[in-house]
Amino acid sequence: MEKELHFAPMQGYADHLYRRFHAEIYGGADWYYTPFIRIEKGAPRHQDMARLDTAQLDGTPTVPQIIFKSVDEFDHLTRALRDRGWKRIDLNLGCPYPMQTRRGRGAAVISNLPLMEQIGERISADPDCRYSIKMRVGMAKPDEWRALMPTLNSLPLDHITLHPRIASQLYGGELYEEEAREFIAESKNPVIWNGDLLSPEDINRVFEAYPQLKGAMVGRGFLARPSLGAEWRSAQGWDHDKRMDYLYRFHTRLLAAYESTLCGQAQILQKIKPFWEYLEPEIGHRAAKALHKAGSLARYQSAVTDLFK
Ligand SMILES: Cc1cc2nc3c(=O)[nH]c(=O)nc-3n(C[C@H](O)[C@H](O)[C@H](O)COP(=O)(O)O)c2cc1C
Repeated sequence: MEKELHFAPMQGYADHLYRRFHAEIYGGADWYYTPFIRIEKGAPRHQDMARLDTAQLDGTPTVPQIIFKSVDEFDHLTRALRDRGWKRIDLNLGCPYPMQTRRGRGAAVISNLPLMEQIGERISADPDCRYSIKMRVGMAKPDEWRALMPTLNSLPLDHITLHPRIASQLYGGELYEEEAREFIAESKNPVIWNGDLLSPEDINRVFEAYPQLKGAMVGRGFLARPSLGAEWRSAQGWDHDKRMDYLYRFHTRLLAAYESTLCGQAQILQKIKPFWEYLEPEIGHRAAKALHKAGSLARYQSAVTDLFK
């Protein structure tokens, strides 16, 4: 079966416009995930819901991701999504930040077995929606997933995306490869690998190491090399000129979209600058610094012109 490639949720980097233009210009990803959607002041944030409506209209293959600490929050969020016609929902059991985990959300849910049993009943009662879970091997210890596995195995999940780190590692440090290997072997649900895939070779290597995988999910690798999926799929690397040509098109469309939807230079710069953060190896230190330092749109535009001339 052909492996799937998923574009990871990347809060602050891959918003609905980024995802849309990425899909249109590069392709190569089967699914794009939203950053987590949460309950704020008793309801899903209006802005998150409005952006989802836009993604639906654009036709970007999008999976909304939710973060929750209770069945009430889960119900509220899933009802809002199901009412809007969403048929796939991803559950965040991986967020490592104390802002969320202290309140019992994200990676803290991995060890909340009673909550996951109740959530499991909800999932089993909603067969028209394909649920997936994105998780770490544990919050504090790398073997926490083991206690949750019987519950996970009783659920009809579309897949589980596994990031083989614990919360305190955030997104760096050693991967728990052995735990991952056992997780993949014990899971009755399809597993998608997530973590540290930066090149087509990395993606192929993980599929060779774990042939049972349904696919791979890539975050920072896509930000650093938006052509990664297209290159991997065609089994053909792109040279620097081709990558820069596509980058120019991608950036031009994204900037134009921000300029037409946002008010004021500060807001536009704040939204567009992260585009470059992972691209320094591609564009070089000098260009990256000039883009980062630009204090006005005019200076920013001039740094962009210098980069692509
Ligand atoms: C800046 C940033 C924002 C992220 N936002 C989310 C998020 O909203 N939801 C989520 O499940 N993971 C989020 N992640 C985690 C990524 O989806 C992914 O699991 C992580 O970066 C590891 O994959 P990678 O090595 O391919 O980047 C974020 C990671 C980073 C670095």
